[in-house]
Amino acid sequence: MPTTYGASVTIDELTFRPFTREEQPKALDLLYRAFGDSVSDADREDEMLVLDHRSSHAAFDGDQMVGSLAAYGHDISVPGGEVATAGTTWVAVAPTHRRRGILSRMMGAHLDEAREKGRAIAALWASEAAIYGRFGYGMAVEQHGIDIIAGPGLRWAATAPPQADRIRLLEVDQAADVIAPIYEAARARRGGMAARDRGWWKFQVLSTRKGAMGGAAWKRVAVAEIDGRDVAYAVYGTSEGQLDGLPDNTLHVIELAGVDAAAEAALWPFLCSHDLVGRVKAKRRPVDDALPLLVEESRRVRRHVSDALYVRILDVEAALTARAWSDSAAVTIEVHDSRFDDIDGTWRIEVAPEGASVQHTTDAPDLRMDIRELGALYLGGVSVSRLVQSGRIEVLEPSVIAPFDSALRPAEAPWAPEVW
Ligand SMILES: CC(C)(COP(=O)(O)OP(=O)(O)OC[C@H]1O[C@@H](n2cnc3c(N)ncnc32)[C@H](O)[C@@H]1OP(=O)(O)O)[C@@H](O)C(=O)NCCC(=O)NCCS
Repeated sequence: MPTTYGASVTIDELTFRPFTREEQPKALDLLYRAFGDSVSDADREDEMLVLDHRSSHAAFDGDQMVGSLAAYGHDISVPGGEVATAGTTWVAVAPTHRRRGILSRMMGAHLDEAREKGRAIAALWASEAAIYGRFGYGMAVEQHGIDIIAGPGLRWAATAPPQADRIRLLEVDQAADVIAPIYEAARARRGGMAARDRGWWKFQVLSTRKGAMGGAAWKRVAVAEIDGRDVAYAVYGTSEGQLDGLPDNTLHVIELAGVDAAAEAALWPFLCSHDLVGRVKAKRRPVDDALPLLVEESRRVRRHVSDALYVRILDVEAALTARAWSDSAAVTIEVHDSRFDDIDGTWRIEVAPEGASVQHTTDAPDLRMDIRELGALYLGGVSVSRLVQSGRIEVLEPSVIAPFDSALRPAEAPWAPEVW
């Protein structure tokens, strides 16, 4: 059987249909290879916990699957609640069949289906930032990768909240029931966080398959108690290392969340004071994490920023009325959407802490933007003024910018703690 196909095949010669449950392993192979990896039995088992093949789109060249895209059904938190979301995922096209419109075709079907199912937004993590803007996704959540120079020189500021009263360690298979309520409390504080069922907890956070270890050799869960209550957890592990012949292990924080910022702060001194550990790394922290200000020398908490969650608005009214607003604002926006005619046009958006009214209007616009920018603004992680400065929003009435920004901005930045 040949292993390469399609150098001259056109898109019209392909068949597009969902993949079946039996074909799911094939799609997984296509996906992992596209990312430069191979699938282990453990990967396969965990992936099957979370993906429903009925929300899939695939391209076939004869009997060969050459493209895949699927959707998770988990809703994303927004300020004040959550929004019906299609989690765009499993995007891969075989290297023999790229750049002839396969992703574009599958994406069109996916977005149409998501709207039919009443999803107000679609959201995704991008392997490359340049891929998804053309489909209307805007970069809505950023994250900080954090690298802490630990060791005896790391001192906690006198103003830092108190440490936990007690910390207990759980094995990963005992942790879900204990930490899920803490995650839910964190999710109520921040937009961008996916609803999790048992399969998702296992797949994303608690699995010990290689791909879920975040670089650690083992994985446990530390739970912090304050006043007899479980208030924060850290899923973490270490990897061994040496520097100049001395022990220099790294502690990897795979996920840390708490009921509030003080609860999260209560766990860091424990994580940063492990014997033999020279560095503490956390790949994905919210951009407004208090951590750098909890220590005397904030330079010891090195941060690098990167893009995290992308949002595509599918129903302007449903999306904007699903979230709470921090202030009052009224703005008329001309939205360009080359895919959906019912979105393309001018919208009058009046918002207040009590609620929002969103409708088409014939009034002259204050701002002009692509639907991608409305997605970027949606969770309040990217400001109007920043998009104006970058030329992505055209301003016809400058006085609307400050109040709209103030209304959009949540008390805490959105956060997307896991990659999907
Ligand atoms: C990304 C990927 C799915 C694109 O599939 P594809 O079928 O080649 O995409 P299409 O032919 O539909 O391309 C549509 C448009 O996007 C552009 N595009 C596609 N991949 C791109 C990329 N990686 N960077 C920038 N632009 C890209 C194409 O040039 C095309 O532009 P045009 O409309 O101006 O002609 C495919 O390259 C792939 O599988 N890559 C490796 C895995 C991966 O990164 N998956 C994404 C996971 S988030």
